[in-house]
Amino acid sequence: MLKSHNCGALRREHVGAEVRLAGWVNRWRDHGGVVFLDLRDRSGIVQVVANPGEDAALDAAQRVRNEYVIQVKGTVRLRPEGLVNPSIDTGEIEVVAHELTVLNPAKTPPFYIYDDTPVDESVRLKFRYLDLRRPRMQRNIILRHRVVKHIRDFLDAQGFVEIETPILFKTTPEGARDYLVPSRLHPGEFYALPQSPQQLKQLLMVAGYERYFQIARCFRDEDQRGDRQPEFTQLDMEMSFVERDDVIGLVEQLMTSIVMTCTDRPLLAQPFPRLSYHDAMARYGTDRPDIRFGMELVEVSDLVADTRFAVFRDVIAVGGVVKGIRIPGCAGYSRREVDELTNLVRASGAKGLAWLALAQDGAIRSSFVKHLEESTVAAIVDRLEGKPGDLLVFVADHSRVACSALGDLRLVMADRLSLRDPNVLAFCWIIDFPLFEWDEEERRWDPSHHLFTAPMPEDVSLLDTDPGSARGQQYDLVCNGYEVAGGSIRIHRRETQERVFGLIGLDPAVAQERFGHMLEAFEYGTPPHGGIAPGIDRLVMLLAGEPNIREVIAFPKTQQAADIMAGAPSTADPRQLAELHIRIVK
Ligand code: AMO
Ligand code: AMP
Repeated sequence: MLKSHNCGALRREHVGAEVRLAGWVNRWRDHGGVVFLDLRDRSGIVQVVANPGEDAALDAAQRVRNEYVIQVKGTVRLRPEGLVNPSIDTGEIEVVAHELTVLNPAKTPPFYIYDDTPVDESVRLKFRYLDLRRPRMQRNIILRHRVVKHIRDFLDAQGFVEIETPILFKTTPEGARDYLVPSRLHPGEFYALPQSPQQLKQLLMVAGYERYFQIARCFRDEDQRGDRQPEFTQLDMEMSFVERDDVIGLVEQLMTSIVMTCTDRPLLAQPFPRLSYHDAMARYGTDRPDIRFGMELVEVSDLVADTRFAVFRDVIAVGGVVKGIRIPGCAGYSRREVDELTNLVRASGAKGLAWLALAQDGAIRSSFVKHLEESTVAAIVDRLEGKPGDLLVFVADHSRVACSALGDLRLVMADRLSLRDPNVLAFCWIIDFPLFEWDEEERRWDPSHHLFTAPMPEDVSLLDTDPGSARGQQYDLVCNGYEVAGGSIRIHRRETQERVFGLIGLDPAVAQERFGHMLEAFEYGTPPHGGIAPGIDRLVMLLAGEPNIREVIAFPKTQQAADIMAGAPSTADPRQLAELHIRIVK
């Protein structure tokens, strides 16, 4: 090889050794005739010195610039007393150059490589190959490798088999639009890229593999956000002869061991707390609660149902609720600051925000207490556990609106008050989801997870009488406010699957065309089975403490689902289009 050692591996015990190094010039300094170079490869950085006396090496060193790729032959020596650099692993030694060869010069990069100073993301993405050289991205990408390697080893030891499934397939709906691929050999026909390997992993259970996993690429054409990409990676898993708690238990063990092995970050709680969907919505206003802090939603409807305060009374009279949160230490908020909070909850759909400030001296300022009995005010403060210095805020609305508005406000205030410990990983399970959600626009039931999720055994009869109350055997894993994984125990009988298709208004002919192969497979001895799919990008984002998944994907797409480095998507050659029987309609 062009190198005998990795830069970052050199230590005191190598003193005296003749080494051959190769890498990038991280930084260089010319100290009047002595040149110091920081030479970088993936393993780290080592200082190289070119002295007078080794004139060829010195001459070459004087001409290198940042990011030149060079080879250095030299001798390792201890750094002189007082010049040791404790901030790098190789800080005790340096390499005295005897020979320095430029393997390839470099243009001046558009941003510094040697540190993580902020750079506009569009520039980073355009020059992603340079961005990936920077310390932060190297840490993240290598962490991702470690996590995936750990997953493979862990699941192999648990008897799982890794099986690849096709990318060119048929629609596997997970609630997003499909990416379609036109077929040249079948004019007018299309493959759909899988939104997940859902059907295929279930068919692998029919096929008797019992424990399957795959590091699977999934494709979803949906609006992009910080935690969404049009193509992303799942750890896709499926197991036969299991019940909900078996899947939850195994994934919890896997997550715990990933955190222990790949990070030094603490877990908030073990075992991971479990909340029903109903409790999560009621207490946190969301089905992906951040449980690193309290500030839970508290209902006071019963206390204010008969007050003179029309805002509360009227909402409750039509089946709504009044809920509040306690914001610690914010009693001193000015009118303007409270108005700003009101605008925040309005943006989440609420009609207003009623508030009550508990001053340190016990005095109360409030937008609504003048309408209430003193004992009612005391009962409300008591219910929210209000203390001097707290600001209590309330939303009266349909339960759904009140919960989600306060849930959003809860997160904003937690950030403002630094209540979300960035180091802690707070996993929890959400269970007992409703099987369906009512789609008012389409006037039909929609699966809340996906079409193949089994109802809770005790709720099967509700499919005929009250589908909205039926719970599904679905479970989501949440961490720090992000949905990290979703899964379920599946339907494994044809009749039940057809019943669900019927409830969601899927025409039997369409169901047969799209999912006939599944229905047919269910008639050949399908074992009870279930599975789950953690999103690898989201998981690694959380482990790395990054704010979005683009930071843990080597070549991500922008918010507009574009690759600005290579220029994708792009137009196609008319000949290619003709072969695909496609005409572009402007
Ligand atoms: P689900 O749709 O919940 O379940 O997806 C599982 C997990 O994948 C991640 N994820 C995403 N990550 C990045 N970008 C996206 N656009 C994106 N969409 C989803 C999330 C999510 O929790 N087939 C089922 C799994 C099963 O039932 O076994 C499925 O795909 O972390
Ligand atoms: P008003 O009677 O309009 O002066 O409102 C009194 C207080 O109730 C104000 O602080 C409003 O912001 C607040 N308010 C109005 N509508 C709601 C609502 N739906 N939920 C909570 N507070 C509200």
